[in-house]
Amino acid sequence: MATDDLLKKVDKSKMPRHVAIIMDGNGRCANALGLLRSAGHTAGVKTLKKILTTAVNLKMEALTVYAFSTENWKRPFAEVDFLMHLFSEYLEKEKLEMHANNVRLRFLGRTEDFSPLIQSQIQSATELMKNNTGVKFNIAADYGGQDEIVRAAQKLARKVASGEISADDITPNVFEDELDTVGQPPVDLLIRTGGDFRISNFLLWQTAYAELYFTKTNFPEFTPEEFIGALLDFGKRDRRFGGIVG
Ligand code: FPP
Repeated sequence: MATDDLLKKVDKSKMPRHVAIIMDGNGRCANALGLLRSAGHTAGVKTLKKILTTAVNLKMEALTVYAFSTENWKRPFAEVDFLMHLFSEYLEKEKLEMHANNVRLRFLGRTEDFSPLIQSQIQSATELMKNNTGVKFNIAADYGGQDEIVRAAQKLARKVASGEISADDITPNVFEDELDTVGQPPVDLLIRTGGDFRISNFLLWQTAYAELYFTKTNFPEFTPEEFIGALLDFGKRDRRFGGIVG
């Protein structure tokens, strides 16, 4: 079925407010075609563009993608360097179109270890889109769920130490306000491409009650049709949030 027809099938009332994607399998996809891993990442960017367009068309509230983990620095220098160039090029090429589509771009993670050029591109793109009211599009880069939780705990510990709040004031809501995703809904649907069945330190707090969707499809071959299929599948799930059936 064509993407436009599939889009019409989506019942907006059953759509996840926040979808997160672990974009895995770029390297394997390229290797299977006899290409370098870098070609897989380049193809992944093209897929990401299509997925974001679909989210914009669906008026999704939030979309978060895992672009680079705190552990990905361990990869060979050439691959890390390639990914950095790709981020830089992506921000330069896509930011005006994102802005025209009313996308509100945000980065989750540390970002201070990125080059000054990338840091300034991140700052200018997020500044440009800060008042946009469409899809909240989060790119997790130099991001780790444990790291995010530790940073939040440190911020709260400092507030307690300075007397601004007391330890008893710390509730889940107060804690959430210190996370990188402050102001965004929890993740409803977590999609992982590439055939593995794990969370890999992604959005550990925000996925507490997320529905999970794992697919063997490597990210470069993940289509808007399969993305919409995952959303339709989500619409059939019985979510109980720890309550009882019925
Ligand atoms: C995981 O596949 C993918 C990554 C670590 C990078 C994801 C990056 C992109 C999709 C493109 C760049 C993104 C932006 C925002 C410009 P893998 O390399 O681990 O693949 P493998 O599991 O087959 O080895």
